[in-house]
Amino acid sequence: MLTGKRVLLIIGGGIAAFKSLDLIRRLRDQGAEVVPVLTRAAEEFVTPLSVSALAAQKVYRDLFDLTDEAEMGHIELSRAADLVVVAPATADLMAKMASGLANDLASTLLMATDKRVLIAPSMNVRMWEHPATQRNLTVLHGDGILVAGPDKGAMACGEFGPGRMAEVPEIIDAIDAALRDGPLKGRHVIVTSGPTHEPIDPVRYIANRSSGAQGTAMAEALRDLGATVTFVTGPADVAPPPGVDVVRIETAREMLAAVQAAHPADAAVFAAAVADWRVENASGSKMKKDGSGKAPALEFAENPDILATVSQMDEGRPGLVVGFAAETDDVVENATAKRLRKQCDWIVANDVSVETGIMGGDENAIVLIDAEGADVWPRMAKRDVARLLAQRIADAVGAR
Ligand code: CTP
Repeated sequence: MLTGKRVLLIIGGGIAAFKSLDLIRRLRDQGAEVVPVLTRAAEEFVTPLSVSALAAQKVYRDLFDLTDEAEMGHIELSRAADLVVVAPATADLMAKMASGLANDLASTLLMATDKRVLIAPSMNVRMWEHPATQRNLTVLHGDGILVAGPDKGAMACGEFGPGRMAEVPEIIDAIDAALRDGPLKGRHVIVTSGPTHEPIDPVRYIANRSSGAQGTAMAEALRDLGATVTFVTGPADVAPPPGVDVVRIETAREMLAAVQAAHPADAAVFAAAVADWRVENASGSKMKKDGSGKAPALEFAENPDILATVSQMDEGRPGLVVGFAAETDDVVENATAKRLRKQCDWIVANDVSVETGIMGGDENAIVLIDAEGADVWPRMAKRDVARLLAQRIADAVGAR
């Protein structure tokens, strides 16, 4: 429920603006107050009257409306909310946000606010995939803007692909997560997830079978307890959850740099399956067969150990560092030794032998190892493992 929460809803000028009417209705059903702002372009798609009627509120439209400035200035308007939501967020609005333009009411509010901002992008698939939009998205992620969607599907313009605004329940979930006052509210947690890709040449790479499922579930569970989550992910099969700050990387060295850039943090959870080795003699251009029948000789160099590096930080080490250990034999012994070697606080160990079906499956059976010893958990869904672990993390971080 969102009882007592105030959402400043900026409606951009896109065909998905009609879904925002439903968003207003459902937010109010959940007890939220919705303060609507319409851009000029949005008024081509929905009328101020219908928005105002559904929100049971005045609609804010113009930066230079003196009556509004007298009643409530744009600075105050942007800060009186608990969360600012932009739905639909058009390519134009995203570009304005990324470059800090403030030339109308919506963009000025977005610049002036001190609250979290969640956007639900909506645009034609080509516009979404355009390098300019993707560049803006990276900037917005870096600025801590939360992003819900877009979804993939048939679009109003007749094309198919990513760009369709997330469905209303998905946006509500992201709003709910962003507003939740859980035990980790105000705490920052870094989560690594997925595999890394280590290039051989510009078109080939070495990777592993990690789907990113457990790391994604961890990020979701920590977010649901109110944490601000920086989710550093390799190219995973599972999409990153909404309501977390996503940093996409490919190699282990990029992952380390992203984790270091995300500090300080109250806790860090290393669920990624990081490649231990990278190709030291990776080629800058595509390797060709030379006709001799001889395969190229790849030389390997050891990648930095991200978990060990963070665990052994002299200054600014997160209060709690949690590693994962994928083992096939002597799970508890190996994982216990790994905890001591890397110097993390906890190790979540699991048996990834093929017959367990854990790698790539929906379930996990873990042993939680800390300084006190090993705690064997029953087999359960990865999501449930994540929920219980997140709760333990919240207890530990709260006790520090
Ligand atoms: N890890 C890391 N950086 C690396 C390798 C591993 O951060 N370069 C982290 C993983 O995210 C995980 C933990 O270390 O939390 C253990 O990973 P695992 O693959 O089980 O251990 P390895 O260090 O690779 O040891 P080994 O291959 O000897 O089992």
